[in-house]
Amino acid sequence: MEIDRSLLTRVVAVINGKGGAGKTSVTANVAGLVAHSGFRVLAVDMDPQGNLGEDLGYTQSDVDDQGRALAAALAFGQPGTPVPSVRPNLDVMIGGHHLDAAAAALAAAKDQTAARLALARVLQPLSEQYDLILIDCPPGIEALQTAAAAAARWALVPAKSDASSRKGMLDVARRLDAVVDLNPGLDLLGVVLFGTGSSAHRIKEEARARIVEALGAEDVVMQATIRHSEATAHAARERGQLVHELEDEARKGPAWWQIRRGEAAAGGAPRTASGVAEDYHALAAEIVAKITDAEAIQQQEVPA
Ligand SMILES: Nc1ncnc2c1ncn2[C@@H]1O[C@H](COP(=O)(O)OP(=O)(O)OP(=O)(O)O)[C@@H](O)[C@H]1O
Ligand SMILES: [Mg+2]
Repeated sequence: MEIDRSLLTRVVAVINGKGGAGKTSVTANVAGLVAHSGFRVLAVDMDPQGNLGEDLGYTQSDVDDQGRALAAALAFGQPGTPVPSVRPNLDVMIGGHHLDAAAAALAAAKDQTAARLALARVLQPLSEQYDLILIDCPPGIEALQTAAAAAARWALVPAKSDASSRKGMLDVARRLDAVVDLNPGLDLLGVVLFGTGSSAHRIKEEARARIVEALGAEDVVMQATIRHSEATAHAARERGQLVHELEDEARKGPAWWQIRRGEAAAGGAPRTASGVAEDYHALAAEIVAKITDAEAIQQQEVPA
């Protein structure tokens, strides 16, 4: 099966074998912000946990097929059918427990090349409708992570800035190496430090050093980091709202004195949302800039 890589240049796999690294939060919020700024975005949930639906708020809604359509596309070669407009400019291929069966089918397939290229094949005919495609990878499940890495031009790696990050980076590097035969153009877009403490400058710098050491390249850690805020994370997932949407609400919400005087109800969006929203804005801008710069360089290299 031939894959036309020129159709998949704006595909980003958000990947880290470790659980809880921030993959889903980064996918949802970056997808939402880039769509909000006017680009057409597709988010693909490759995780049987289906958490992307919690962040985007479609879990248990009418459109939530728990990954059935995506699983059929991956395992049986059906065409992919994104759910349109979960936000303006943002479509989604929904994940969920049906992907477990798809993963088992891909792992057992006789033609492993076709199995590893299953997602690339699904995305290829859809790609011209989108400016950016983000894939939320599962923490385990090798067959699904491999299919995501084999479909992507870029890997974006969220990582907690804790002591285990070096091992996590080595795992990611191994994962990306494993598809290099099928997808030699796959490149690391960057590592995003996720859930960082605002005062933890030293920890951030140590994490940077470990990541640089593990991946053997200097320019891999993104400038933008996503700060730690449990209140914001909790409110976002509970309400199915993105962080910039929470921030809008917090800004519009009642002042503390209105709540004290009984003039307004408490329980509005957390104040910390605006700092986290700022971080996601910076990250989305950096991602778009990095991809645009790489494309400009590539253009120059193509002989006229
Ligand atoms: N800025 C934040 N600060 C602290 N916690 C956060 C923040 N953003 C998200 N979280 C929480 O951290 C946890 C992990 O985030 P997330 O689900 O994005 O990671 P993941 O890598 O997708 O996890 P999994 O491997 O299970 O798919 C979630 O409980 C989420 O609510
Ligand atoms: Mg996740």
